[in-house]
Amino acid sequence: MTEAQNTPSHDNILILDFGSQVTQLIARRLRESGVYCEIWPFNQADEGRVKAFNPRGIILSGGPRSTLEKGAPSAPDVVFELGVPVFGICYGQQTMVKQLGGSVEGEKSREFGRAFVNVLEDSEITAGIWEKGASEQVWMSHGDHVAALPDGFEVVAKSDGAPYAFIADNARKFYGVQFHPEVMHTLHGRELLKNFTHNVCGCKGKWTMASFRARQIAKIREQVGDAKVVCGLSGGVDSSVTAVLIHEAIGDQLTCIYVDTGLMRAGESEQVVDLFHNNYNIPLIHEDASEKFLGGLEGISEPEIKRRLIGAMFIDVFEMCAKRVGGAKFLAQGTLYPDVIESVSFAGGPSATIKSHHNVGGLPDKMDMELIEPMRELFKDEVRALGRELGMPEAFIRRHPFPGPGLAIRIPGEITQEKIEVLRKADTIYLDEIEKAGLYDKIWQAFAVLLPVKTVGVMGDGRTYDHVCALRAVTSTDGMTADYYPYEHEFLGRVATRIINEVHGINRVVYDITSKPPGTIEWE
Ligand code: XMP
Repeated sequence: MTEAQNTPSHDNILILDFGSQVTQLIARRLRESGVYCEIWPFNQADEGRVKAFNPRGIILSGGPRSTLEKGAPSAPDVVFELGVPVFGICYGQQTMVKQLGGSVEGEKSREFGRAFVNVLEDSEITAGIWEKGASEQVWMSHGDHVAALPDGFEVVAKSDGAPYAFIADNARKFYGVQFHPEVMHTLHGRELLKNFTHNVCGCKGKWTMASFRARQIAKIREQVGDAKVVCGLSGGVDSSVTAVLIHEAIGDQLTCIYVDTGLMRAGESEQVVDLFHNNYNIPLIHEDASEKFLGGLEGISEPEIKRRLIGAMFIDVFEMCAKRVGGAKFLAQGTLYPDVIESVSFAGGPSATIKSHHNVGGLPDKMDMELIEPMRELFKDEVRALGRELGMPEAFIRRHPFPGPGLAIRIPGEITQEKIEVLRKADTIYLDEIEKAGLYDKIWQAFAVLLPVKTVGVMGDGRTYDHVCALRAVTSTDGMTADYYPYEHEFLGRVATRIINEVHGINRVVYDITSKPPGTIEWE
């Protein structure tokens, strides 16, 4: 993964993860200032690997443990022996201090949330941002704090709860902060990190999507040679961008496979075929497997069984299509960085479990192919930026995520063709109103759910007895946590009226105001 960055012209920063909830934000902040960085679990950074990565600087993240515990995680010695600047954040600061001969103590003065530090000294990291004598807002989240500094360190700033809130060894260019510069609530945190990467480490900040695209294309060509590649399209942004990038690299050695499960939204399959076949002229196998899926799901209402059946049928159909390509050596996937980090995280964590249950594919295990994952270094919004860089239509790039099992998990209970049609109509009206109100890009995901509940209504002079439709809309940054979108009542009223008037089979509309947790985004 790192070879392409490992040349003198690239500015790599290595982030060693000690398990903080916000480690990914460090990477985000660095990438925003044009610096390429990777997050590695602290215990997967052996000397050879670190040297091969050739970082200009190393950041040690925060973490949930205490350095005072037996067997607490520590940074490998190479971090302090490599001769590059080191920046320890929270736990990262504490382990650095301990490993270099200082000490840490616990519990007496915990600080959580907003805090203010007094700036006592100038430093290269605070230059042009914090003035000596000023009081600056930061975000703290710690129990332990540094109690005695190793030789060579001085205090740059202190807070009430952390006498060593910011420390520096200017000669060795080792820095430590007790607060979290990566979170938005630390005012100027982003600039502090930028001073570290640009001024202290000497990064030029030239990591752009254009350079990423060029590097990945060279890398894909080298990896694939003249072999064939297949790529499954889901209609979502990740697989679409992956396919377009690979096609740019190897042209018609790539064949895309689009399995139409019959569980897609209205017009979705046509859009995928239109973009890839007509617009990009990428070899595409469009497999209409809707009958197989509908047949396989007949009489099934238990959500997990639905998911498993859909996953298994998908693999069957995909394998059959891949065979038609004949001798494909590689399978391309739109894996993103958050998935990579979760899967290697030494701490594991609840999100890892949630994801695996969502993984419809399971393809790589089943198929004897090598993987190409050109986006495994990118965050979701960077994938969108890459899509724009590749000139893909905006309509594809800004799309809300859509789950692999499709509308099947938005129809609790048994699935029938008739219910799918009813749901498609309601969903189309809902999304149409969202677009018209200019809300689409403010929402992470919005969709309608067709409930297996029937209620009594009155239309004209007659009694109705039809389904309930639930509307869902959430804000989120990664789908892991989410909050419901606070629509104006008037908007909800408008959508409800249209759905009930225009869709036969629905006579009542409700809005789901559950956050995640405790709810999930999808209903099944
Ligand atoms: P939940 O419902 O767990 O979903 O809050 C979080 C995000 O994941 C999407 N999702 C899936 N994506 N295959 C997918 O590719 C799946 O099986 C699947 N299930 C849920 C969901 O739409 C939301 O964006």
